[in-house]
Amino acid sequence: MSHPIPTNKEIKLSTKRYIVSKTDTKGIITYGNDYFIEIAGYSEAELLGKPHSIVRHPDMPKIVFKLMWDRINKGQNIMAVVKNLAKSGDHYWVVTDFEPKIDPLTNQILSHTAFRKAAPREAIDTMEPIYAKLLELEKEGGMEASEKYLYGYLENNNTTYDNFINSLVENKGLFKLFFSTMKKLFS
Ligand SMILES: Cc1cc2nc3c(=O)[nH]c(=O)nc-3n(C[C@H](O)[C@H](O)[C@H](O)COP(=O)(O)O)c2cc1C
Repeated sequence: MSHPIPTNKEIKLSTKRYIVSKTDTKGIITYGNDYFIEIAGYSEAELLGKPHSIVRHPDMPKIVFKLMWDRINKGQNIMAVVKNLAKSGDHYWVVTDFEPKIDPLTNQILSHTAFRKAAPREAIDTMEPIYAKLLELEKEGGMEASEKYLYGYLENNNTTYDNFINSLVENKGLFKLFFSTMKKLFS
C-alpha cells in the first residue's frame, strides 16, 4: 500500500473528542467513528477492510507496534503514545488504549477496539526524541537494537513501559476515567 508523503504539519486534536476504531484479530479495520474518519481524512469506504497501518507514520519505530501486538494478542491492554499519518500527509498524536472482545465460550479474541484521545503536549515532547532514537537504531541494527535501547532507557529511569507511559498521561485530561467510560459504552 502506498502511503502519503509526510508534510511535517501537525493536526491539533480536540481534547473533547475521541477517535475510535475497531479491527479484526489481524488489524483489518472493521469500524471507524466519525472523528477517526474526519481526522484521518479517508472516507469510511477507504478505511473499512484496510490494514490499520493505513495511518502508520514512518517516524514510528517498529518496536512500539511489536509491544502492542504482543500485549493485545494476549487479550491484555497497553497504552501507547502514537504519531499517526493522515491522508493529507499531516500527522496527529494520540494516546491510545485497547479493549479486546473475547468469546466467553472459547476464550478466543474476536476483535480489538482502540480508543484514542489527543496526546498531552508533554507526552509528545518526551516521546518524540525517544522514537527518533529508536528509529535510528532500528535502521542501523534492526528492531533488536531498538528494543535493547528501550529496555535500557526504562531501566536507567527505574521504571517499566507501563509506568513510564502512565506518568506521561496521568492526571492530564483524566485519561483513565475516559478510557474506562468508553469501554463501558462500547461493550
Ligand atoms: C485496534 C487497533 C488499532 C490500531 N491503531 C493503529 C494506529 O492508530 N496507528 C498505527 O500506526 N497502527 C495502529 N495499529 C497497528 C497496526 O495494525 C500495525 O501493526 C502498525 O501500523 C504497524 O504497521 P506494520 O505492522 O505494517 O509495520 C492498530 C492495531 C489495532 C489492532
